Amino acid sequence: MKILITGGAGFIGSNFIHYWAKNHLEDEIVNVDVLTYAGNLENLKDVESLKNYKFIKIDIAQKDEVEKVISSEKPDVIVSFAAESHVDRSILGPEEFVRTNVLGTFNLLEAARQNGNIRFHHVSTDEVFGSLGPNDDPFNEATPYDPRSPYSASKASSDHLVRSYFHTFNLPITISNCSNNYGPYMFPEKLMPLFITNLIEDKKIPLYGDGMNVRDWLWVEDHCRAIDLILQKGKIGETYCVGGATEKTNKEITYKILELMKKGEESIEFVADRKGHDKRYAIDFSKIKNELSWEPQVDFSDGMKMIVDWYQKNQVWWKAVKSGVYADYYKKNYENRN
Ligand code: NAD
Ligand code: DAU
Repeated sequence: MKILITGGAGFIGSNFIHYWAKNHLEDEIVNVDVLTYAGNLENLKDVESLKNYKFIKIDIAQKDEVEKVISSEKPDVIVSFAAESHVDRSILGPEEFVRTNVLGTFNLLEAARQNGNIRFHHVSTDEVFGSLGPNDDPFNEATPYDPRSPYSASKASSDHLVRSYFHTFNLPITISNCSNNYGPYMFPEKLMPLFITNLIEDKKIPLYGDGMNVRDWLWVEDHCRAIDLILQKGKIGETYCVGGATEKTNKEITYKILELMKKGEESIEFVADRKGHDKRYAIDFSKIKNELSWEPQVDFSDGMKMIVDWYQKNQVWWKAVKSGVYADYYKKNYENRN
């Protein structure tokens, strides 16, 4: 089988390629990515010499580039991770989110439809469902969409397009809506790697608002395994909610990181809140559990040790990332917060 992965040089996409290369030795893997600030071929050093792996640089928002790759590669399956993924960036500059997440997904769907109705899995997020109150039931597949940031609105829009291609054109699609992933190769603009790397650098860690917003955390390889099961056994046209059963406030995450890194709470700097900051996400994953026998395998306290350890051991990787174009973004995002 030939699997074409979009956004394979990013955080989850590169973990998925490692996962696929390890678990599906017989498959051909084509990674298409435009290499934005978040795309990094260093994430794929271990697989780049494999005979069954190929990287092609394209922008999914360019229709002709997408059509050319899909018609010449003729993949059996497309798994689409490519997106602008960081909420704060979508507040600073939403346009790129509409371009890649909406137009890019549309171009992929069109190419999949025009080249033999290719099996298409769309990787999406729990943020499309909006924000929960403390006593609300977790999101499930029937929760109405209520996105509240330009990022989540662009992902919601792409989900709707994907579903419309199933109903209108019979494109064999599936969608997964997953909670916050954590693990290796996570770009150090996101909460966990930003805090871990700042602490290694003896810098402050900027906690937004009162630190009481809640996220559900899932080890990235557990997410990869969920997508694998959906590809193998998922029902065409369906959505699967994927989560870690690990709801934590940002304060709890912060104190766990401080404890593991033997640092004190004087490193915390409370900064102005994110605009429109969603209060709480939580996922009811009983559908994928009951239908596909999927459950998270990595326990949160093991995962936290693994991620801290990874960033301690891979300083060359993140120091290169942090010293690049990221430095400008960091200034823009944080300098006006207080
Ligand atoms: P990421 O930002 O780390 O990586 C995104 C990748 O997409 C990068 O390699 C980037 O170069 C590529 N890309 C961006 N624009 C492109 C374009 N126009 N053409 C081709 N490639 C392009 O993102 P991530 O955190 O790995 O997330 C991957 C997917 O999973 C996204 O769709 C995101 O919405 C979804 N998701 C993420 C999380 C999470 O916790 N990170 C949780 C649930 C769902
Ligand atoms: O829920 C899934 C989503 O998780 C994915 O769709 C997104 O692509 C991914 O980026 C992630 O979004 P979040 O906004 O939840 O992740 P982030 O790491 O940016 O923030 C996590 C929480 O931490 C959030 O409540 C904001 C807070 N935060 C974040 C940063 C970067 C801080 O307090 N300080 C920070 O410096």
